[in-house]
Amino acid sequence: MPTHGPVLFKIKRQASPNDKPRWEEFELPWHAGMNVISSMMEIARNPVTRDGKPTTPITYDSNCLEEVCGSCAMLINGKARMACSALVDNLEQPIRLQPLSKFPIIRDLAVDRAVLFENLKRVKAWVPVDGTYDLGSGPRVSMHEQEEAYPLSRCISCCCCMEVCPQFNEHTGFVGAATISQVRLFNTHSTGAALQRERLAALMGDGGIQECGYAQNCVETCPKDIPLTRSISEVGSAVMKQSIGDLFRR
Ligand code: SF4
Ligand code: SF4
Ligand code: FES
Repeated sequence: MPTHGPVLFKIKRQASPNDKPRWEEFELPWHAGMNVISSMMEIARNPVTRDGKPTTPITYDSNCLEEVCGSCAMLINGKARMACSALVDNLEQPIRLQPLSKFPIIRDLAVDRAVLFENLKRVKAWVPVDGTYDLGSGPRVSMHEQEEAYPLSRCISCCCCMEVCPQFNEHTGFVGAATISQVRLFNTHSTGAALQRERLAALMGDGGIQECGYAQNCVETCPKDIPLTRSISEVGSAVMKQSIGDLFRR
């Protein structure tokens, strides 16, 4: 509901990974079109709590401010989403801001999402090109292939799909939906497919695709509407086919 009164924020603060977390409240005057990131910029510029006590500037990650870089993911009113596309007028107040809960805290709302990048390395989520010499033009990619690949290429590495996944935790070591979807993207790329077998092999066993319980929280949360459950089911079939083939090749 649009509001023209002051906007109230409750922000979970934590000075360092080992400090005790605490909540602080801030109040800002309402502006048309304000979003969570612009509000945090204002609070960081003038770090005074609602009851007039000076405090330290809040720490958070952001960069593109237009839902492209993936860095501003956090829990907003308990929901994993991007702070730059969260309009204040669409949020219940007080607006509660917390860091993602499944990633190591760096400070306040900033967390370490390196696990996703390690997982992408594990599955070789890239197109292998050897050297910087002219490789000539690549194979032609049909319109149909482009239409299939484009939605997958929109992943912004925000980690929201991992945050909401019941299987993404320290016990399973599950790689999560984003990594699986990138396997689909690179395996269907005409040049990227050179590493197809290695990618599928990396998703076998502990922490691999077998850990997925198909709860579908990931697809509902993804800010870029990536067809994650389709990726999981296609990559799951390919992993299964390769494992059975490998058994017979022994
Ligand atoms: S389908 Fe469920 S278990 Fe599988 S990755 Fe998505 S949220 Fe996690
Ligand atoms: S798949 Fe969606 S939710 Fe997951 S990291 Fe990529 S953009 Fe974020
Ligand atoms: S600041 Fe880049 S996605 Fe929000």
